[in-house]
Amino acid sequence: MELENVLLIGGSGFVGGWIASGLSQRGVRVTIPTRRRDNTKRLITLPTVSMVEANVHDPQALAELVKGHDAVINLVGVLHDNDSRLPYGKGFAAAHVDLPRMIVAAMKDSGVRRLVHMSALNAALNAPSEYLCSKGEGEAIVRAAADELAVTIFRPSVIFGPDDSFLNMFAKLLKLFPILPLGGGKARFQPVFVGDVARVFVDCLSVRATFGQTYDLCGPKVYTLRELVEYTGQLIGKSRRIVDLGDGGWAYLQAGLLWLLPKPPMSPDNLRSMEVDSVTDGTHDYPDWQPTPLEAVAPTYLSPNEIEQLRLDRYRFRAGR
Ligand SMILES: NC(=O)c1ccc[n+]([C@@H]2O[C@H](COP(=O)([O-])OP(=O)(O)OC[C@H]3O[C@@H](n4cnc5c(N)ncnc54)[C@H](OP(=O)(O)O)[C@@H]3O)[C@@H](O)[C@H]2O)c1
Repeated sequence: MELENVLLIGGSGFVGGWIASGLSQRGVRVTIPTRRRDNTKRLITLPTVSMVEANVHDPQALAELVKGHDAVINLVGVLHDNDSRLPYGKGFAAAHVDLPRMIVAAMKDSGVRRLVHMSALNAALNAPSEYLCSKGEGEAIVRAAADELAVTIFRPSVIFGPDDSFLNMFAKLLKLFPILPLGGGKARFQPVFVGDVARVFVDCLSVRATFGQTYDLCGPKVYTLRELVEYTGQLIGKSRRIVDLGDGGWAYLQAGLLWLLPKPPMSPDNLRSMEVDSVTDGTHDYPDWQPTPLEAVAPTYLSPNEIEQLRLDRYRFRAGR
């Protein structure tokens, strides 16, 4: 199946930029709906990519967008929701549950058959956080559409790469504070490189063997949150003292306070997500999955000076100086 044009919903963000670029390199035309066109200047320069301002939550606008495309990729996701309640708040419901339901309906109506959906590792109806629970519900809706649509679902652990909001957020905190109190430091992650994530999203589009499948996306190595923060500190030259707040009352008190900030780096719901380790046993890996190590990429954006220094050292060595 040769694809000529793809609708990339939620494509204006961190992961979307990499997928848009991968599709563009293959000459695929990409339409990215966005709520604010100003946010997306860097993508406008990609050949074959067009940004359109649209409200994807409006069924009519969504139906118009879907029409005429060969495939849809849905990346929309939110990490925080002010409306906290059980099983999940209105913001999580709109982004993770209602939108996938509407996308599936619009695709069935217009005869567009290929859907690639971004979920998250540990997403499940009985997950401990609103984020994971709503992602689980969205995943179930997409999976249930597999009788009529060719669906592929991806479930990544935390994603790293230039402009990520995980290691870069810790880098900012480590630069600001001489001591870092850390909740959930023992939680385990298997960080995956955004370039690897984008590659499989692009590759799978026309691979029939991936239709109806769900894949975990994880890096080659497991780290505790504390190890990741310490490693970030080393890379930016700020090896701060980390105070372990455990995963109980103190950690939730800190998350509750951080949650009050205008751009919260952490929320109590994020902490609840960390109650389940974000790791895989490898049984749901993408075919020929060979993930890039964190250590091969993180220094290039967290400590670019160090990379430049290594390059200069290499030149000096070669020149015998
Ligand atoms: N980053 C990670 O570590 C990670 C890990 C596991 C899973 N994921 C999942 O991967 C997906 C992409 O993540 P990302 O890091 O690229 O996120 P991101 O940078 O925040 O981008 C998400 C995009 O979705 C759109 N969006 C957000 N909320 C929306 C809403 N309520 N309605 C419509 N559009 C909305 C935004 O587009 P506009 O603002 O332009 O409208 C934004 O560009 C998400 O589903 C996320 O849950 C990410």
